[in-house]
Amino acid sequence: MAVTLDSLSVPATTAAPALTLRTWRTRDVPVIVLAHADPLVRSRSPQPLTDETAVHVWFQLLDEGWAAGTLYVLAIVEGDEPDADALGLIAVSRPTPEDEVGDVTYWTVAERRGRAFAPRALESVVDWIRSERWTDAPLHRLQLAHSGDNDAACRVAEKAGFALERELAAKPPKYPESGHVHARKL
Ligand SMILES: CC(C)(COP(=O)(O)OP(=O)(O)OC[C@H]1O[C@@H](n2cnc3c(N)ncnc32)[C@H](O)[C@@H]1OP(=O)(O)O)[C@@H](O)C(=O)NCCC(=O)NCCS
Repeated sequence: MAVTLDSLSVPATTAAPALTLRTWRTRDVPVIVLAHADPLVRSRSPQPLTDETAVHVWFQLLDEGWAAGTLYVLAIVEGDEPDADALGLIAVSRPTPEDEVGDVTYWTVAERRGRAFAPRALESVVDWIRSERWTDAPLHRLQLAHSGDNDAACRVAEKAGFALERELAAKPPKYPESGHVHARKL
């Protein structure tokens, strides 16, 4: 059964604003193109979304992946109003709908970094996957990989409870740097 989701809410704390996670909308196209102008985002994405046409093709992939139970990609917005502008992304994927191990990726737009939006959003996605609102095809483990020089991605993983599990050797030319695999049992 496909998962249905309107939005996920991350409550405000005394130090940080509320966040909302929601599915993507046509109005988000410019922010996705802007995010992919950043080489840090582009180099870590399966497909470069550097123009509007590419984003619309990607939206189609998201719909297909969501319906198939293999790809769940949410926009992060600040506040509790889902119509607010997207400032980041959290994606969970698995090779087949039956796989119990999923992969996570994330980005935030450059000018909104350093405010713990990504780790708080990631924790909320973990809670969602563990909840009764998730599909009847459970995920029992989430993992994420990042290049060894990506300290910010490493910190997000640690802050969201994804322990460093193993190191990955460099595989040039595609992966010139060694890497880390972090994982969290669900
Ligand atoms: C990784 C990323 C998503 C972190 O998002 P975020 O919302 O800034 O997360 P945080 O605020 O928790 O910051 C994480 C770390 O980034 C670093 N950081 C802080 N401010 C920063 C800024 N203005 N710019 C860049 N990095 C910053 C700090 O090391 C911080 O760790 P700390 O809180 O222990 O000091 C974001 O840097 C990003 O989009 N990077 C490019 C894409 C990417 O590498 N994705 C990961 C693929 S797995």
